[in-house]
Parts: sequence; C-alpha cells; structure tokens
Amino acid sequence: MAEVIWGLATSHVPSIGAAMDNHRTQEPYWKPLFDGYQQARDWMAEHTPDVIVLVYNDHANAIGLDLVPTFALATAASFPVADEGWGRRPVPTVYGHPDLAQHLVESLVDDAFDITVAHRLAVDHGFTVPLSVYDPDPGDAWPCPVIPLLVNVIQYPQPTAARCYDLGKALGRAIRAYPDDLKVAVFGTGGMSHQLAGERAGLINPVFDAMFMSRIQNDPQALASLSRETYVTEAGSEGIEMIMWLVMRGAMDEDITRISDTYHVPASNTAAALALFENKVAGR
Ligand code: DHB
Ligand code: FE
Repeated sequence: MAEVIWGLATSHVPSIGAAMDNHRTQEPYWKPLFDGYQQARDWMAEHTPDVIVLVYNDHANAIGLDLVPTFALATAASFPVADEGWGRRPVPTVYGHPDLAQHLVESLVDDAFDITVAHRLAVDHGFTVPLSVYDPDPGDAWPCPVIPLLVNVIQYPQPTAARCYDLGKALGRAIRAYPDDLKVAVFGTGGMSHQLAGERAGLINPVFDAMFMSRIQNDPQALASLSRETYVTEAGSEGIEMIMWLVMRGAMDEDITRISDTYHVPASNTAAALALFENKVAGR
C-alpha cells in the first residue's frame, strides 16, 4: 500500500526561482533565505519519495478567469513549464503519475470531493518554485513524478480552510488506499503573509505567521476553523495561499515530527517560510 512519508510547506515567491535560475543565491539579499533551506534540503535528499503530490495554485497562467475550478487534480503524463511572460524557467519538464492520479480522482469523488480533472496543464511559479526549493539542482529530470493538485486561492470565494483540511484528510485516505507500495510526499505551498496590490500592498504579519507556523503541527484544527476573511485580513489578499498548507497537513498523521523550519522577511513582497514534517511511523 502507498503511504505518506513526509510533508513540505513552502512559499512559492517567483523571485526565489529567479534567484536560483540567475545564480544569485549567494548575494547578500538572498543568502540568508537559501541558508535557511539547507537543513531541509539535506534531509529531503536522503528521503527521496516515489511520488510527490504538490498542492498549489495557478496564478492565471494556465487557468484563466473564464473557468475557475475550486479544486482540480491533473492526470497527464507530463506538464510543461509555463511561460509567464519572460520565458520558461530553465527547469525540467515535470512528469506525472497518471495511474496514481486517476486513482486519487476516483477516491476523492467517492469521498464526496467532486474534483475537476485536468488532462493538460502548464505549471507556473506556484508549482516550479516549490520544486526548486525542494531540489535546487535537478539536472535533466526531477527526482520523481509529481501530481499537481490545484486550489483556487485567487478568486472569491476561495474554499474555506476547513474544506482544505478535509480535502487533505481525503487525500491521505486515497493515497493509503492505492495498492502499490509507493512512498508519497505531499507539498503544501504558497504564503506566508503577503499582499501584492491595493492600499495594504506590502503587508507582512509576523505574529500571525508565527501562530500559523506553530499550529500547523500541533493544532491544525484551530487553523481550519479560521474564516477566509480572517486569512485575508491577517495575512493579506495573497497570504490566504496559506490555506493550501492545510491540505498537506490533513494528508499526514495526527502526530508528526518537525524536521526543519525557517522564516525570512522579505523575499520580494512576501514572508517566505519553509516547514518540513515527517510522519511518525513505527520503526522509522
Ligand atoms: C510574489 C508572491 C507570490 O506568492 C506570487 O504569487 C507572486 C509574487 C512576490 O512577493 O513578489
Ligand atoms: Fe502566489
């Protein structure tokens, strides 16, 4: 049977990817952020999963406002890197896992999550930056197949945090019901606090971020009970991306071990964070 072995939460700020692509990670602005990733990166390199399920949001690159699925899962064999206006990032094409993806779709629908299915999808910075945070040096190919699971955090009404947490629980059940012995990592991406436009552009809320960073491990139910308005008010109009961390959290066990975390302000306009958790499985 498949199992979830670890979960990674990380911000997806596009300039984090650009800093890597343009070899600027050792410059004074970026070095502290990338130094903060090192411990997690070393650990993940020693715990390569068979498949990643990457929970993320598209930023109107692959999914326009004509059609806005609240949740969507992509079943294709491969996913090209999107051109967001300045050329494709120089990172490998992403290979999917169509068989596990189809199983997840069926299980989620049977579990009352009537999810949209994407048969074709180009992945933007919301997806490729977390992969680069995970593996800064993939060479010709990412370490394993990756299944995209999309959440609408762009357009009102975004799903509630509670619904995201419940989706994660259903995702965990679906993974554990897959008959092959696959080790699966789940990524929850986006956040932490940031607002890119409007009167409050530049908003950062370290107190809310610290509360979230602590409770994502020990009291996710408290985070799930917050309204979308609370997320937007406290974390900013784009900070609501943090609800995607709850999908990852829901897919994991109740008891999890924190392997590493880091918090850095600013990365561009955003409070950038990483948190890495392992399921506490007997014998490991
Ligand atoms: C920034 C952050 C984001 O989450 C995003 O999607 C785009 C830009 C930023 O801080 O620049
Ligand atoms: Fe974003």
